[in-house]
Amino acid sequence: MTDKDEQENGDLDFETLEVSFAAIAPDEKRFVERFYEELFERHPAVMPLFEGSDMKSQRAKLLAALKLIIANVRNMDELLPALQELGQRHQKYGAEPAHYIAVADVLIAVMAEIAGDQWTEQMQQAWRGALNAIAGIMLGAYTGAGAAPGGVERRAADRPWTAPKVAKNTANEAETLAQEKVPVSGP
Ligand code: HEM
Repeated sequence: MTDKDEQENGDLDFETLEVSFAAIAPDEKRFVERFYEELFERHPAVMPLFEGSDMKSQRAKLLAALKLIIANVRNMDELLPALQELGQRHQKYGAEPAHYIAVADVLIAVMAEIAGDQWTEQMQQAWRGALNAIAGIMLGAYTGAGAAPGGVERRAADRPWTAPKVAKNTANEAETLAQEKVPVSGP
């Protein structure tokens, strides 16, 4: 990582995030299957939120979103509008702040399970940081009663790498986040 990266993107451990995601990529289908299995096992309270969801397509969308995030992890500000819109949709789905902690815990646990021997403490910390930041952006975009205190601006100011630039193609990027398949390159 260069000094410039550090300066512009805060303290996300890009390389570790990329390497760890590459470690689970060969088993990505199993990874998302296990994620929802484990999420519903550990947190049955979130099951009603997915009532009526087509879980096959939901698994594909979550995987596509994670791939998009990883593909852009060094330029997260590019993803800011899409993550904010994703957050606004999640407010409508009924996702609450505590659910983001549950989702992060389960994502990390299942990544560790799939990566097996390749998983390290450093990977765990890198994902904890990234998922915290993503949840902060998504929750920061909630509006009205129950919205996260401070909103997007305050949260962005807390994390220099999320500082918003001028949004372009906001609506399209949000669509893309849900649908685009982004190839994950190896380490
Ligand atoms: C790392 C954070 C998260 C990411 C990246 C993520 C990603 C996604 C994506 C890409 C979709 C597809 C629909 C769309 O784009 O709007 C989706 C839908 C959904 N997510 Fe999340 N999500 C996250 C956190 C959560 C949390 C914390 C909950 C709460 C339990 C949640 C519950 C749902 C529900 C209920 C749907 C709708 C399923 C449907 O359309 O039937 N997500 N999520």
